Amino acid sequence: MKERKFDKSEELHEKAKQTTPGGVHSGARLFKPFSIFMERGEGSKIYDADGNEYIDYLMSYGPNILGHGNKEVNEAVKKQLEKGICFGSPSETSAKIAKKITQLIPCIETVKFSNSGGECVAHVVKIARAYTGKDKVIKFEGGYHGCTEAQVSTHPALSEAGPENSPTVLPNGAGLPKNYVDNYIVLPWNNPGVVEKTIKSHGNEIAAVLTEPILGNTGTIMPEEGYLETLREITQDNDVLLIFDEVITGFRVNLGGAQKLFGITPDLSTFAKAVAGGFPLSGYGGRKDIMEDAILKNGAWVSGTYNANPLSMAAASATLNILERGNGAIYEQMTSFGKKLVEGIEDSADKHGVSVVPQGPGPFFHLWFTDMNKVTNYREAVKHDAEKYHTAWKEFLREGVYYSQGEMENWFLSAAHTKEDIDTSLEAVDNVFGRI
Ligand SMILES: Cc1ncc(COP(=O)(O)O)c(C=O)c1O
Repeated sequence: MKERKFDKSEELHEKAKQTTPGGVHSGARLFKPFSIFMERGEGSKIYDADGNEYIDYLMSYGPNILGHGNKEVNEAVKKQLEKGICFGSPSETSAKIAKKITQLIPCIETVKFSNSGGECVAHVVKIARAYTGKDKVIKFEGGYHGCTEAQVSTHPALSEAGPENSPTVLPNGAGLPKNYVDNYIVLPWNNPGVVEKTIKSHGNEIAAVLTEPILGNTGTIMPEEGYLETLREITQDNDVLLIFDEVITGFRVNLGGAQKLFGITPDLSTFAKAVAGGFPLSGYGGRKDIMEDAILKNGAWVSGTYNANPLSMAAASATLNILERGNGAIYEQMTSFGKKLVEGIEDSADKHGVSVVPQGPGPFFHLWFTDMNKVTNYREAVKHDAEKYHTAWKEFLREGVYYSQGEMENWFLSAAHTKEDIDTSLEAVDNVFGRI
């Protein structure tokens, strides 16, 4: 193992704290004792301020589906730079990409673009409220939907979280109005019976059920067999809309998102991170009658200066062209590499007596250090061995394998990861598990 120094990162973080609270611009980037400051990325690799090279499984928390610095995407963006970067007017390209999205994502008959994951969720929930005339939204413990909407009970302290089947609705931190929580009902994930009971008794107040189709913000938690099907049936039967927040899963698990993977079509859905290969772009859409009634008839105001900006449109057009090539070959490769990593991790864990459960669909996954056979919801997740997670994270960093220090984050694959990266990463896994 190469000795690595992190002095420059430490120094940069100290300096950044003087001008920015915590020294970082997004809460998830705050690592302890200091964050690793990055300088550049190329393909599957990322390089920090001290010159350390890592195989990158953070991939910017998901967007870099093609790895760092894809040449075709860069060329498309450069061409657009010459033509103009911000028009505040519609363009033919945005109409073309909108059409492509409607062809790719099963539920999306009509679509609008925004910039970040938080924005598209805020817009889509507004659409659901404007269409149904109801306010309340069911969201799930362990689910995260950004900093603008459904900011409740993502990772609540169990001492305050109330009963497992009717959790107390808790704000995600300070700064939200006291009555904010009144707009939400929080339920445990992967428990169809509780959702059914709640909708049957409160359906007339509930605009929508909002869920990630694969929980991606409490590590990775897959839906149990039949769970999403039941959500679909209960909502349909009770005039409640079903919204899939596919900010992570959209264009990551396949071209049609998790809704295509599982064959469950929600009424409305979001997408964001992977769609423009790392450029800021998100979107939301769904049934035409819902979108048009909410916006054009009932007057839901959805707007944004940078929406469908030409640079992100150019990046999305190039990214989607690449992702569409070879009939899903990129997804097959990411899934098979992800599965190879997961199997190798399991073998190495057996060899070294480490209790670890890797979980996920392949293109992203999480390593749970736990004695459980699998993790199915937030309350099980928080029982994991956090200390082991952090020890392993430090050791992986020393081995040149980079992912988030956050216990509830994931490993993200990209089209740029190679067989050699996977083999090198598995050697690192074996070294780390041997030491922890
Ligand atoms: C499912 C989900 N929704 C919404 C968001 C918010 O996205 P952003 O950070 O781009 O605002 C995230 C961010 O990780 C997410 O995972």
